[in-house]
Parts: sequence; C-alpha cells; structure tokens
Amino acid sequence: MPIRKAVLPVAGFGTRVLPATKVVPKEMLPVVDRPAIQYVVDEALAAGIEHIVFVTGRNKGAIEDYFDHSYELEEALKAKNKTAILEDVEKARLPAGAASFVRQQSAQGLGHAIWCARDIVGSEPFAVLLPDVLVKAAPSCLAQMVSAYDQVGGNIVAVDAVPEDRVSSYGVIAPKSRDGRLIEMSGMVEKPAQADAPSNLKITGRYILQPEIFDLLEDQDPGAGGEIQLTDSMARLMESQSFHAYEYEGQDYDCGSKIGYFDAVLAYALANDEIGEEAKALVRAAAS
Ligand code: UTP
Repeated sequence: MPIRKAVLPVAGFGTRVLPATKVVPKEMLPVVDRPAIQYVVDEALAAGIEHIVFVTGRNKGAIEDYFDHSYELEEALKAKNKTAILEDVEKARLPAGAASFVRQQSAQGLGHAIWCARDIVGSEPFAVLLPDVLVKAAPSCLAQMVSAYDQVGGNIVAVDAVPEDRVSSYGVIAPKSRDGRLIEMSGMVEKPAQADAPSNLKITGRYILQPEIFDLLEDQDPGAGGEIQLTDSMARLMESQSFHAYEYEGQDYDCGSKIGYFDAVLAYALANDEIGEEAKALVRAAAS
C-alpha cells in the first residue's frame, strides 16, 4: 500500500527554546522567510503525501491558521499587485480536505501524540515527520525513504551517523546487515551510554510505520522521562515486523534546540537565492 498520510506531532511544549515558545509554537519559528513547519510539510508533499494529520494542543492555533486561506491578506496583496508574495502565501495553503487537526489534550509524549492520530490514519501504513527537525536534502528525506519502502516494505526509520561521543543524546539503532544506505535492524536503544551503543546511527525524526503500531501505543507504559515513547512501541513491533533504517543523504537540523535552530537559520539563509550572498558577507564579517 502506498504511503498517503503523514502525521506531524506539534503538541509539545518546546521548553528548550523558551521563552520564544511561550506564545508562538516552536514549529512556527521562522527559518529565513517561512515557519519551520512549512519546510516539513513541503518535504511530505514532495514525497507524495496526500493528507497531513497535525496533532496539536492548546496555544497551537497559529498552525491551523497558517495552512488556511487568509482572505483579507490575500485580497490586500492582490489589490496592490504584489503577485510574487501572493503566490508564496497561496502556496502555503493545503488543498481542501488534505489536512486534519486532532488534539492531544495533554503532552504525554511522542508515542501518545502519534496514537491520537489513529482514527484518521486508519489501517494503512503512514509517515511520521517531527516538525522541529528540518532535513535539507534533494530528493527530500521522506522521498528517499519512500523509495526504500517501495523495495522492502515494513517499517523504516531515517538514520544519520553522529560522532561516537554524542550517541548518548539520541535514539540509536542496532544494525544487523547492510545493503548500501538500507540497513536491516535488530534493535534500537534510547540514549545509550557510549560504551553500550550498538552503533553511532541516530534516529532522525522521520518514520514510515505500519498501522499495528497503534495497538501497541494504546497499552504502552510510560518510559524515559515518564512519557509514552514511540521508540518503546517500535521496539515491541520489531518482534513481529521487519524494520529497516535508511541512512539518508542530506543534513538535519534540530530546531527544538537553540544551537540547532541557529544552525538551521544560518544554513537556509546561506542557501537562499535572494539573500544568500549578503548572508555570506555578513558571516565573513562577523567571523573576522
Ligand atoms: P520534542 O521532545 O522534541 O518536543 O518532541 P517538545 O516536547 O516540544 O520539546 P522540549 O523537550 O519541551 O523542548 C518532538 C516532537 O513531538 C511533539 C513536539 O511538538 C515535537 O514536534 N510532541 C512531543 C507532541 O506532539 N506531544 C508530546 O507529548 C511530545
């Protein structure tokens, strides 16, 4: 079955970038000229996703408004003949019926957030994209994973190599065998000590999952941090289904941390057609 639906969990508190996220959802923080979440939605659409399920919470209304029609603004831009910017604003709108919003009433963890999307996803395989992780890649990270999925099916997680002394900050996979960028997995561990880490391949915020994950999430006990962890249910699903890791080609940025957010703004500004050259000059000046 093709991957048609993607779940984007956006109900977290974003405590690592407070107070910026006190009233603005962290997914709406701008990276150059658009909110972080726009890049992630574009990545999903570029991979053939037809329906996006946003798992939202209180104070996240700006996300719903962003993907909606902005009648007054668009009419004003039209009246002033600001065609280029109007086109950009119109592009942000998702087609009618192509987005759903479901509430996670309390932030009980990523696994719980994904479980909240169960009725909308139904009984088909689906993608999960963490919207605070941007992946700069061509083709998009999810598109690369979908191509891998077309070969092997089952469940797929995106991975990326990190320096060995940083593995204890991430979920890390245990590899069994490797065929190019595709790695058959035998397990995964959340935040292992460096000495116990089965690899230096960290799980990077993009997943293709089979719908059976929902039954496991339903009775999943809280794990690390007292939260219902997606990793714990994936580890259980691995007992009955195949799991591959895909080492994507590209660069990820964790916009949920201050330095990752700065890194993202810098990278996207330097690569931007309109301001890239000026941004480079500013960086050179600041470094001298
Ligand atoms: P994070 O742990 O990075 O987000 O979860 P957070 O909880 O907002 O961040 P901190 O730790 O407080 O700084 C990854 C993604 O999962 C969502 C978050 O919104 C983020 O996009 N999430 C997390 C939920 O939707 N619900 C939750 O209960 C937890």
